[in-house]
Amino acid sequence: MDVQETHNVTLRINGKDHQVGVESNWTLNDLLRNRLELTGTKRACDYGGCGSCTVLVDGVDVYSCSILAVEAEGKEILTIEGLGDSENLHPLQKSFALSYAAQCGWCTPGMIMSAKALLDHNPKPTEAEVRAALSGVLCRCTGYTSIVKAVLDAAGVIRGGR
Ligand code: FES
Ligand code: FES
Repeated sequence: MDVQETHNVTLRINGKDHQVGVESNWTLNDLLRNRLELTGTKRACDYGGCGSCTVLVDGVDVYSCSILAVEAEGKEILTIEGLGDSENLHPLQKSFALSYAAQCGWCTPGMIMSAKALLDHNPKPTEAEVRAALSGVLCRCTGYTSIVKAVLDAAGVIRGGR
């Protein structure tokens, strides 16, 4: 018989406090997508190999499929839904659209969240630094050039340079 223990987890997601009952084997991705319906965070491989599920945990980009929901106790989580919405896009979201940096879009939330983590601590990255920061997120469509351009353009906008 497979009996899972339920735990109460308190965490802050996109600026809002949540207290949620989770099973001990749930990942943070399970909690976000299946319980809270925050499906902007993707799940492709589900084993830490693609980065499509990347979110920020206390400001650090993390694969949400590779951390248990109980490990997120007391943490501050930022998902793509917390970055901006259609009325008020974050510069990274706007720049990805303007640069045609999304094709199928499967990698896009992970790319944008990893880029956000980068720009939060390095507002003026080089192209090499952008490529290194995004190396944990795989894109099968774009060839990466438009994605790197989008991040560099957004960095300029955020710095107020253009
Ligand atoms: S779904 Fe998490 S790394 Fe692929
Ligand atoms: S746009 Fe399709 S995987 Fe990146």
